[in-house]
Amino acid sequence: MTGPDGIPPDTSAAISVRGLTKSFGDFVAVDGIDLDVPRGQVFGFLGPNGSGKTTTIRILTGTSAPGSGRALVLGEDVVAHPERVRPRIGYMSQKFALFEDLTVQENLRFYAGVYDLAPEVFAARRDYVLRMADLVGREDELTRNLSVGWRQRLALGAATIHEPDLLFLDEPTSGVDPVARRQFWDLLYELAGRGVTLFVTTHYMEEASHCHRLAFIYRGRIVAEGNPHEIRATLVTQRVYDVTVRDADLALAWLETAEGVVESYLSGAALHAVVDRAADAGAEALQARLAAAGFPDAQVEPVEPTIEDVFVNLVSRERDAEAGGRGG
Ligand SMILES: Nc1ncnc2c1ncn2[C@@H]1O[C@H](COP(=O)(O)OP(=O)(O)O)[C@@H](O)[C@H]1O
Ligand SMILES: [Mg+2]
Repeated sequence: MTGPDGIPPDTSAAISVRGLTKSFGDFVAVDGIDLDVPRGQVFGFLGPNGSGKTTTIRILTGTSAPGSGRALVLGEDVVAHPERVRPRIGYMSQKFALFEDLTVQENLRFYAGVYDLAPEVFAARRDYVLRMADLVGREDELTRNLSVGWRQRLALGAATIHEPDLLFLDEPTSGVDPVARRQFWDLLYELAGRGVTLFVTTHYMEEASHCHRLAFIYRGRIVAEGNPHEIRATLVTQRVYDVTVRDADLALAWLETAEGVVESYLSGAALHAVVDRAADAGAEALQARLAAAGFPDAQVEPVEPTIEDVFVNLVSRERDAEAGGRGG
């Protein structure tokens, strides 16, 4: 589901993109995407590895030119005038761009220099960032000695040293433990509360519910967009069941070929089975079928679809459509 064709980009949005394309040789990494990111929101850009998230961010930060399409960032055409956009945005790249051999404070000073901050402005911003990132007292520690969680917060501080209106975060929580991830999201909310627009990519589906709005990208195409509630509501023709069973691997193999089951996969500690509503006979019926198939201990409960359920479903629909011989 892409945005409406032919509607001009929205100059009041934080980001407004129309028909954006980027190829590497014959390979189309970004395939005609439309996006509108309202100001002051946390916008989640979700997709599996290799789906085109970083490529999109590089275009939106003026680092890489698109093959075609338009991209307005903070109302400016970022392709034609990247220099108007860059001072007003921050970018926390997938590999935190920190200097290992510099101290915490020196890293911040380096980024202040990139953005040409006056010394007294830097002093105030440094103090703010150190407090925000909980790095007070560690100013003179070497960056390479910090744990991943600290480095992540320092990278956030470096990316916001110049008080950008819009911040791009490319998989900022990858490789960080769940507790540090939670703390990091609290920092992001704090920034959003101050009016900063956040464009966050992640492949952790459970992080989707932290966002005001979401877009799913798959193989360079936007396959769904909306708030988390709307996204969940797109799964109207299916029901999702949670299956708890001892022999999960074998039960999964059975579910994968079971009639009426469109999709099945491991979700947390349990299995999720997505069943076509037309073929759905309820949890007890599925439980009875599992028992008859050799899984007498299986417990089946209907559950609300998660964002991940919707995503798996959308991706399998796309795959089916491609297998069905859709051109282009
Ligand atoms: N400079 C490049 N040259 C060739 N292929 C690239 C280049 N950058 C990215 N790609 C390819 O484009 C696709 C999308 O990459 P990327 O945007 O990094 O995905 P994501 O960030 O969602 O993991 C991948 O298949 C990747 O290998
Ligand atoms: Mg990436």
